[in-house]
Amino acid sequence: MPGAGPPVSGGPVAEVVHAVKQFTAPEGGTVTALDEVSLAVHAGEFVTLLGPSGCGKTTLLRCISGFEDLDSGEVRIDGTSMTGVPAQHRPVNTVFQTYALFPHLRVEANVAYGLEVTGVPRRERAERVARALEQVGLQGLERRKPDQLSGGQRQRVALARAIINRPKLLLLDEPLSALDRNLRHSMQLELKILQHGLGICFLFVTHDQEEALTMSDRIVVLNHGRIEQIGTPEQLYHTPATRFVAEFIGDGALFTGSVDVGPEPVLVTGDGLRLPIRDDVPAGRRLTMLLRPEQLDGAPVSDDPAFGVLEASLEQSVFYGATRQLVCRLANGASITVTPGSGADGDRLYRAEPGDALRLAYRRADPHLIQEASDGG
Ligand SMILES: Nc1ncnc2c1ncn2[C@@H]1O[C@H](COP(=O)(O)OP(=O)(O)O)[C@@H](O)[C@H]1O
Ligand SMILES: [Mg+2]
Repeated sequence: MPGAGPPVSGGPVAEVVHAVKQFTAPEGGTVTALDEVSLAVHAGEFVTLLGPSGCGKTTLLRCISGFEDLDSGEVRIDGTSMTGVPAQHRPVNTVFQTYALFPHLRVEANVAYGLEVTGVPRRERAERVARALEQVGLQGLERRKPDQLSGGQRQRVALARAIINRPKLLLLDEPLSALDRNLRHSMQLELKILQHGLGICFLFVTHDQEEALTMSDRIVVLNHGRIEQIGTPEQLYHTPATRFVAEFIGDGALFTGSVDVGPEPVLVTGDGLRLPIRDDVPAGRRLTMLLRPEQLDGAPVSDDPAFGVLEASLEQSVFYGATRQLVCRLANGASITVTPGSGADGDRLYRAEPGDALRLAYRRADPHLIQEASDGG
């Protein structure tokens, strides 16, 4: 399908076009699991589907792998429609959260399984199994059975088994969520390195925004079966398109109001805050302003029109080693988190104690402004 999709190097390896999938709920009624979902995965890309539980992530993977049929729309791989192509003939493999290994087979036989069913000769099989096990860091454990492995090792076996056929696209459905925190972090980095080395496209599913931010080239944010936004981690963090994305990714405070243009434009919220914003926004527009913790710091001693100032009181100051987070309460009752910088203003905030009145400030050109579709105009 040359020419389709955004201009990323190489054509899309996989495309989902206007995918719709409904289920009949056992308790009656229908659930729209996928609502006009379109996306593309390009050669060498690590793309993550991110969204809360029940938003349609697994359904989308199942429709791509062929375990489920779409009601309408299409899945294409290398430009070829997969409609009517059974799962075992699609150039796609899946790694699940639970390892789905054969408990009675040794590691090497588990990994070789995919090659046996496609009739790869024994010698080549052994070479490829050894190579796949090396790629996932499991050399030396070939003769073990799954119950002689740790959770992380079992997930590596599942991974080796999934990459041994050299699929065009590897689907990973929350593969790390059963692992403990430290192991999950190291596996995140390893997976990313492995993906880079293999050159196979990964479509990775998680409900964990941190995991999505650290691993992905691009993230697709799903909510109730619809795409909220597709972008790089940086784009989603700095310029979320919707309130949902802003709340789901990263920390921050959101203020909704209308723009009042006086000597300088301010956002006037329903509860009476007047928040200076950047210059180029027309009066009367309803917007949501996103203030990230790192955009706030101690206010300059003298008034400066480049800054917006918030009066707050400190509730908690939490030390994280490299940073400190201040949880503050604003006059309207809203809670706001601040990560002070290391300059003079930041040092002043570092020394503050719970109950202290603080003057916080942000550069008014900094906060991202969101215009929700439902706000009209
Ligand atoms: N076989 C099914 N029958 C009925 N409803 C289903 C079925 N599979 C999924 N759903 C519903 O579709 C929605 C999406 O589910 P799923 O894709 O599993 O979400 P996620 O993986 O994001 O948690 C949910 O509301 C779920 O209850
Ligand atoms: Mg799921």
